[in-house]
Amino acid sequence: MDLEATNKLEQETLSCSVEKVMVRNIPQVTPYWQMRHVKELMRIRRLDGVPITDDEGHLLGIISISDLIICIENKDLEAPVSKYMTTPVKYLILNKTLIEALREMNRFKFGRLPVVDDKFKVIGVVYWWSLFAFLQEALDTGMVVKKTTPSEGVISYTYQILGKDFVHAGNASLQMRKSLQQLSIDPKDLRRIGIIAYEAEMNIIIYADRGSLQAKVNSEKVEVIAEDKGPGIPDVNLALQEGFTTAPDYIREMGFGAGMGLPNIKRNADIFQVDSRVGVGTKVYAVVNLTRR
Ligand SMILES: Nc1ncnc2c1ncn2[C@@H]1O[C@H](COP(=O)(O)OP(=O)(O)OP(=O)(O)O)[C@@H](O)[C@H]1O
Ligand SMILES: [Mg+2]
Repeated sequence: MDLEATNKLEQETLSCSVEKVMVRNIPQVTPYWQMRHVKELMRIRRLDGVPITDDEGHLLGIISISDLIICIENKDLEAPVSKYMTTPVKYLILNKTLIEALREMNRFKFGRLPVVDDKFKVIGVVYWWSLFAFLQEALDTGMVVKKTTPSEGVISYTYQILGKDFVHAGNASLQMRKSLQQLSIDPKDLRRIGIIAYEAEMNIIIYADRGSLQAKVNSEKVEVIAEDKGPGIPDVNLALQEGFTTAPDYIREMGFGAGMGLPNIKRNADIFQVDSRVGVGTKVYAVVNLTRR
């Protein structure tokens, strides 16, 4: 696995740079501005805080909504920004990760943190709502957790799946495929992994209450693990037969329930195993050995 691919991979997870969620294009506000103009800027752009910089853009302080309230209470809107700005100010350096941004915001209970480059120039602001929007999208697309254990050379992705969530059906396996694509895996292997992941995801959505889809990757193989809490499979050998299905009519009307999912997983895997306990849940384990490139 090459380093470039690993770096790309990191970017699409919670360990990506704050750059991904920060708001850019915030006008440069200097201490000589009148508070009245800052108030207008905040109102029009619906910002609950703006960073204050010198003429070269270096971070000096911040005017937040609470600073503005004090100014308004004082009926002092003609005053210069320098009179009301909070300083020194907490900030983030560009290469910080989303997790670090969350931690800082939570620690200081700040809803916004300016982001500066290595010359201390402001290049954007992370607002709580810009962070939330990103996290919500990540949740919606199933892209939730990534764990790495570099010592073993394993990269692992886990995607959460909700039973009966047909709106997001297929998202987890799609995200998994996209992530693996970055690792320059042979397209033929990727196709097999994609089929395995999709069929396993659909079975969780159709039959289980909730579950997860995980890919563990090293240079030799990709292990796909689909685990769920649900009714379990009473007779696994029967379920593995082509054409066997218990899908109800409304599922068949959606185009599922041909009884081909598990056989398809088996066909595409080098190692395949199903463990299921009735009333507890099901675990599907499949391995695809990677073609050497
Ligand atoms: N995660 C699961 N939990 C409970 N039962 C399952 C699960 N996965 C499969 N089954 C059972 O095994 C049967 C066969 O599954 P399989 O994926 O092969 O076919 P299908 O889901 O019925 O149809 P298709 O996958 O072709 O749309 C299912 O009908 C269901 O009864
Ligand atoms: Mg199926």
